[in-house]
Amino acid sequence: MSILSYNPKEKRKFKERSSKMKKINIGTLIDLKKSGKKFASLTVYDANFSRIFERNGIKVLLVGDSLGMTVLGFSSTIPVSIESIEYHTRIVRKGAPNSFIISDVPFSSFSSKRKVIEDSIRLMVSGSNMVKLEWKGNWIKSVVHSLNKRSIPVCIHFGLTPQSENVFGNYRVFCREYSESRKLLDESKNFEKFGKMNLLLLECVPKDLAEEVTNSVSIPVIGIGAGNKTDGQMLVMHDMLGLYHSKKTPKFVKNFLLQEKGDVAKAIKSYIMEVEKSIYPSEEHSY
Ligand code: KIV
Repeated sequence: MSILSYNPKEKRKFKERSSKMKKINIGTLIDLKKSGKKFASLTVYDANFSRIFERNGIKVLLVGDSLGMTVLGFSSTIPVSIESIEYHTRIVRKGAPNSFIISDVPFSSFSSKRKVIEDSIRLMVSGSNMVKLEWKGNWIKSVVHSLNKRSIPVCIHFGLTPQSENVFGNYRVFCREYSESRKLLDESKNFEKFGKMNLLLLECVPKDLAEEVTNSVSIPVIGIGAGNKTDGQMLVMHDMLGLYHSKKTPKFVKNFLLQEKGDVAKAIKSYIMEVEKSIYPSEEHSY
């Protein structure tokens, strides 16, 4: 059974699209930034959805540690193991041979620099194109340097970094204060100096700050809850499809499956179209 198999015409197009797809790499994302074209990204955790997302035009897939909540039933990302991210990266790659896959380095990998490096290598071997590290202060810079030296590109996650929830308390918008926002801008510029192989991800920051960061660096910037001026957008797939029920839905979440009356392929296409035309996220989804 397939979500798309009821329509033979659609199924044929779906197969043709996949065989014609070009592999997405960091150069593709840099070219998109240079030409001012925005791109849509989604989290994903299994081969079935990664296949559907790739064939419907999503270029960047994140095997996020959000899988702790969306798939494994934990109440935070903290208990997610490297074995889980490794396993889900492997199965996501099976369904999406051409997509650019980013895998999260989980909380437990940060016991030492050596462990971050060893676990990042495991994720790359499992099929990732890049690892994502949540910002945890200045020491992360030397880790990024070591990873890059080992040919491992890094996406640095700034703003709301859920692995540090025990430090910052409640989920909230970050960098509203002038000093915090200047620090984020400076760190982003520093990080750009590491090289063109890396990316930035900004979560839950004011849209004007995200725009300033995006315009100040030559590496692609992906936003989630960061307004519509970043180069790319990210959404947790369960939020985009209205499948995750939390007590409080974040302001930036939009249920595209509801908008498209339950048609998954249309929901994905609408998400891509709205990101490319800067319709989503709108003012009501921004801080
Ligand atoms: O784990 C995840 O899904 C993430 C996104 C929310 C950016 O880090």
